[in-house]
Amino acid sequence: MGTIEFKDNKRSPESRQSWSTDFCEPHLNLLAHAQALEIGIGSRCGGHGVCGGDKVRVWVRLDDVKPGLEALSPITDQEREHLSAEELDSGYRLACQCYPNRSDLKLRVDASVTP
Ligand code: FES
Repeated sequence: MGTIEFKDNKRSPESRQSWSTDFCEPHLNLLAHAQALEIGIGSRCGGHGVCGGDKVRVWVRLDDVKPGLEALSPITDQEREHLSAEELDSGYRLACQCYPNRSDLKLRVDASVTP
């Protein structure tokens, strides 16, 4: 079974809070996973890819991913509008645009969390 751990990136590394789902659903984007935990991660447009407020950095456990398989959905045009090429290369995504491709992944998502 997969999990998604959201870590608050606003706090100092020693005091970062985290929240975890006990599921990782390919039909739900990362924003919906955060909403299931009742935490805010900066969405201001309701998940339409417009505001860019839900910028997160996603870490995928590499041993979860077989070579040639992508863990996450492809980068969308909305993400290219809001994120630089460097950010995209470093794993930044918009939570409302990003879906896990499999239900057995263990993802960590660094986000600006509002409990
Ligand atoms: S919620 Fe506004 S861009 Fe994702």
